[in-house]
Amino acid sequence: MTLTPDLSPAPQRRPDAGEVDLLDLDRWAAEGPPHDWFARKRAESPVWRHPGPDGTRGFWVVSDHEHVTALGRCPHVMSSDEDNGGIVGLGPGDELQAAFDASNAELAAIGLHDNDAKMLLSLDPPEHTQNRKVLNREFTPGAIGSLEPAVRELAGTLLDAVDRARGVGDDVVDFTTEVAMPLPMQVIGDLLGAPRHTHRDLLRWSNEAVTGTDPEYLSPGGSQLAAAAQLAQLFTTMQIERQSEPTDDLVSKLIAAEIDGEPLSQLRFIMYLLLLVTAGNETTRNAMSHGVWAFAEHPEQWDRLREDPSLLSGAVEEVLRWASPLLYFRRNAVEDVEVAGQLVRAGDIVSLWYVSANRDESVFDDSFTFDIGRSPNHHAAFGGGGPHFCLGASLARLELRVLFESMLERYSRIELAGPPDRLRGNFLHGVKHLPVRLRS
Ligand code: HEM
Repeated sequence: MTLTPDLSPAPQRRPDAGEVDLLDLDRWAAEGPPHDWFARKRAESPVWRHPGPDGTRGFWVVSDHEHVTALGRCPHVMSSDEDNGGIVGLGPGDELQAAFDASNAELAAIGLHDNDAKMLLSLDPPEHTQNRKVLNREFTPGAIGSLEPAVRELAGTLLDAVDRARGVGDDVVDFTTEVAMPLPMQVIGDLLGAPRHTHRDLLRWSNEAVTGTDPEYLSPGGSQLAAAAQLAQLFTTMQIERQSEPTDDLVSKLIAAEIDGEPLSQLRFIMYLLLLVTAGNETTRNAMSHGVWAFAEHPEQWDRLREDPSLLSGAVEEVLRWASPLLYFRRNAVEDVEVAGQLVRAGDIVSLWYVSANRDESVFDDSFTFDIGRSPNHHAAFGGGGPHFCLGASLARLELRVLFESMLERYSRIELAGPPDRLRGNFLHGVKHLPVRLRS
């Protein structure tokens, strides 16, 4: 590999015409991922520096499967630690970054921005390894498999409600709000042990904490921190109840957890739960919506699945590849390193674009074709297999499989009934509304 260090001065302006500004959230809301542009970039140079505003250094974009996977596996060089910049936000000019910076400044002002105010995702080994062990066993395929009957019942109840509404003549369904949002919310809410009457609030606060760059999800006067504080209050109430009466829910398991013989600090306990509720909510629902959208646009794939349900597991993987519910995660270079011929300097922001890696034509044949029979399908939707590989992957797969299985029994065809409404954001590949007709 030839070293061609990028020592050019920081760019002074946003991308030229014909280029895409990844910080332009209105563009994301209007058009979604710039797949063709990513394809061109992958061909030109898989790793390149995106300009920031006003002469700031910007951030590295890693767009091919090989480097997205490799860089996600080397935490000693590419750190996730909050102290080095954490895992979300693309630096100056990024609205999500600004929201996180504002939250952190407020936390620091009240003395809460310390090492314990970090989520599992924003820790590096060895601290990460110890913290991950705390709940690893709860998310193994075996443990998650036992949830299948409960997930099936929840999916059935939601689809029954949709079918009843269709029965009284209202045949257009907003699939996102009526099915894809409530299903993962109820699943993760029940797993945590949150009372059912709190689930709507959990969803609202989770949206606000992670997707507040979209005005639809930001309540008047609300902020990321205010939402996190409300979630923290609910978790503290649950904690007090479970301390006297433990159950088998995740809140009780986190109360009982120990690292080096010590319980989790109060802040770490809250941060763990904040991650579970947001990760459980904001990702799977978008995979569900994108999957239904894809089947509406590719009815032959739905027919194929109906004819051969043994394709279901593969279909779930293809939906995950197609959807890429998390567009990117960030890492932070902690030393100078050459990547794909570029010199990435210590302190640089490095963003790993799963959405682009999942269309990499050197890994996936006909990568722009939605093909439920695709095999192999080594997508990077859950990350590239490093230490942070999605803890909830088995749960997400179960939810998707059960949902599509339940829909296959009911619907012969899925049709779009209007344009889908995309989330305004460059971190989650979100769908806010998906109007469809579900034909029996
Ligand atoms: C389709 C749905 C989902 C997608 C696409 C997804 C994607 C991801 C990705 C890309 C990562 C980071 C991987 C890396 O940095 O290498 C991650 C981490 C994580 N996910 Fe998921 N996720 C999904 C569902 C879930 C669910 C249902 C949960 C359940 C609570 C969950 C919990 C987590 C946690 C706790 C982490 C942090 C793991 C760590 O830092 O060790 N995810 N997920």
